Amino acid sequence: MAGVAGRLARRWSWSAFRSPVQVTCSQAFPLHVSGTAMMATQADFENAMSQVKLLKKDPGNEVKLKLYALYKQATEGPCNVPKPGVFDFVNKAKWDAWSGLGNVSKETARQNYVDLVSSLRSSESTSQVKPGAESQQGTYETLVVTSDDGITKIVLNRPAKKNAITTKMYHEIILALQAASKDDSALTVLTGNGDYYCSGNDLTNFTDIPPGGVEQKAKDSAVLLRDFVNCFIDFPKPLIAVVNGPAVGISVTLLGLFDIVYATDKATFHTPFTHLGQSPEGCSSYTFPKIMGSAKAAEMLIFGKKITAGEACAQGLVTQVFPDSTFQKEVWTRLKAFSKLPPNALKISKEIIRKNEKEKLHATNAEECQVLQSRWLSDECMNAVMGFLSKKAKL
Ligand code: COA
Repeated sequence: MAGVAGRLARRWSWSAFRSPVQVTCSQAFPLHVSGTAMMATQADFENAMSQVKLLKKDPGNEVKLKLYALYKQATEGPCNVPKPGVFDFVNKAKWDAWSGLGNVSKETARQNYVDLVSSLRSSESTSQVKPGAESQQGTYETLVVTSDDGITKIVLNRPAKKNAITTKMYHEIILALQAASKDDSALTVLTGNGDYYCSGNDLTNFTDIPPGGVEQKAKDSAVLLRDFVNCFIDFPKPLIAVVNGPAVGISVTLLGLFDIVYATDKATFHTPFTHLGQSPEGCSSYTFPKIMGSAKAAEMLIFGKKITAGEACAQGLVTQVFPDSTFQKEVWTRLKAFSKLPPNALKISKEIIRKNEKEKLHATNAEECQVLQSRWLSDECMNAVMGFLSKKAKL
């Protein structure tokens, strides 16, 4: 919905649309549609009204207006009230929506109301990922990977650990990105399950020491980190981060290698490397000063300043911030539209934008990993990790 009415309508309360009449029917979802007439019955309609109240997310003003108009048409028939004054924006938008249905019959309006509620409910149930859910592509322990509507979606799936990245998860993300680079989707999206986007490197990775000892561990980890970040540098299709909550450490630094970063207003961005006796990775020592200027980059990367989604957007790290209540709906609607663009043109445009940077990015990545390899062996780092682990042990 565009224009002044749309902007003002954003102030409406969602609850006003959830319960347009007293509901008497408690029939369970899925909605039942009468088989003989193939039209929704009064019971289906009443059930749909009760289902609206169960929606977890605000479906947005446009949908709420549709629900309102269909409800009025189904119960009262064509619009029968005078047009509100031009400055009564909210009632004018409602009137427009209702009168826009013209002479649609009560039965058709009822059916359309039932269908609309049904589609809202089913899109909510498919958008939630359960820990341990099946991936469409291969078997992953720590991820859920699906490919639909031209979009491959890689979901970090350790919500109980705030999606901290274990060694296993690093390997699985590499595999998922390799598969996504070859599949027929137009876009690849990385997001998190649960309240966090990602809490960065899993600090318990430091406790898994191989027979070669800590030096060998640091060396193996540096190789793994370099290969992991290289996958992002070389990824051939548009790569989009859907930042569904706070982001820490490597999940923040990698954002400079994404083509688009959409964030909920609940997200924060935080890289506590110095606190952990470590140093920046993910090419952030190059991308962050370039994106936000050296002073802002220093505050984040050297001093570990946590910034809000709004600040990250103002600094150019995030493309756009959305209210948490409409985040998933708005982002996925937009991404679905992007995914219909010609896939080869998408790839070629990305390549031409990124190709002059690649050599520099690979060199930065190699250097950052080398520095980290020695940082991981430092007393400062070991003490900080021990601090985190012993705090956990005391809880
Ligand atoms: N490594 C290992 N475990 C982690 C983790 C990480 N990076 N982030 C979260 N977890 C674990 C917690 O230890 C906890 O495990 P438990 O339930 O077995 O005790 C679980 O995830 C939930 O985290 P918790 O700390 O209880 O949640 P919170 O909301 O209070 O705090 C964080 C969340 C992310 C702020 C906090 O866990 C944290 O500071 N983690 C470390 C982040 C970090 O330093 N990352 C590395 C950056 S380089």
